[in-house]
Amino acid sequence: MKYKKIVLAGGNGYLGTVLAGYYKDKAEEIVILSRHEKQTDGNVRTVTWDGKTAGKWTAELVNADMLVNLCGKNVNCRYTEKNKSEIFASRLLPTELLGQVIHDLYEPPKLWINLSSATIYRHAEDGPQDEATGEIGTGFSVDVCNAWEAAFYKYETPKTRKVALRMGIVLGRSDSVFPRLLNLVKLGIGGMQGNGEQYVSWVHEHDAARSTEWLMEHPGLNGIVNCTAPIPVKNAELMHIIRKTYGMPLGLPAPKWLLEIGSVVIGTETELILKSRWVLPKRLLDSGFKFEFETAEAAVNDILR
Ligand SMILES: NC(=O)c1ccc[n+]([C@@H]2O[C@H](COP(=O)([O-])OP(=O)(O)OC[C@H]3O[C@@H](n4cnc5c(N)ncnc54)[C@H](OP(=O)(O)O)[C@@H]3O)[C@@H](O)[C@H]2O)c1
Repeated sequence: MKYKKIVLAGGNGYLGTVLAGYYKDKAEEIVILSRHEKQTDGNVRTVTWDGKTAGKWTAELVNADMLVNLCGKNVNCRYTEKNKSEIFASRLLPTELLGQVIHDLYEPPKLWINLSSATIYRHAEDGPQDEATGEIGTGFSVDVCNAWEAAFYKYETPKTRKVALRMGIVLGRSDSVFPRLLNLVKLGIGGMQGNGEQYVSWVHEHDAARSTEWLMEHPGLNGIVNCTAPIPVKNAELMHIIRKTYGMPLGLPAPKWLLEIGSVVIGTETELILKSRWVLPKRLLDSGFKFEFETAEAAVNDILR
């Protein structure tokens, strides 16, 4: 085994399950911090916490090779005042708590990756946004990301390297965005959404997992890192690729007004679909990281295989 211990805070959700699967054969032990008990599965063990207070669980962080913090209420909901405050709190409280605990530990994790989102950059149809030249946007989800990253940097952790991983839309079969898009395609309503011109900065789940290992293996990388595939696509193109790969000739488009009604009915927000996220993973590429899935065609082909 290459690694002794990987800790995944909030690791029983979609991305955590992807990471646990990836590290199962690479790490002796994978510890998941969750608010709910779960049976141990081989070397993947869940330890309970409340995400707000220190407790016995803090011992699990000692000497870990890596901590990845994935905690956060799912943003796929209506942005009511209640949901908005939960979206903030579910990210800020666990992040600050982990910072405080790591700050106080004698032998803290070597690397702490805190999830953030590529949506922190502005709506961009005119040019790509990278870590050096990208411009931070405005609006609710950007406010969340800014506060999330500020919480991450609140405590100094001199013995722990930190990476704020600005993740694009992770594509995989089991959960998150892809199964929803595929359902639209299956129903014959998988055409472009809005005017289809908005960019989607996506990343295949396998590359998302590989990027965390790359970060472990490259101690020179710290701070802000974008994790999105090197070739983003426009929404119309992505939907076309999914239709073509699935074998669905028909795909009715969903104009903005329809999405606005639909999002109320299914309890989500149009921003998740209509914001143009044109983001590049400059720091990963500059450090030599090779994405296994560079194009959306390759990713969708693999997922639907
Ligand atoms: N999936 C994507 O495409 C994507 C893209 C960019 C960024 N991200 C970010 O990456 C993180 C993981 O994404 P995901 O898709 O795996 O989400 P997910 O499936 O919803 O999992 C998130 C986890 O957060 C934990 N959580 C929720 N509220 C919490 C709270 N108040 N206190 C402590 N833990 C809490 C939950 O763990 P328990 O219920 O087990 O405690 C849950 O399993 C999220 O923060 C998300 O915003 C995801």
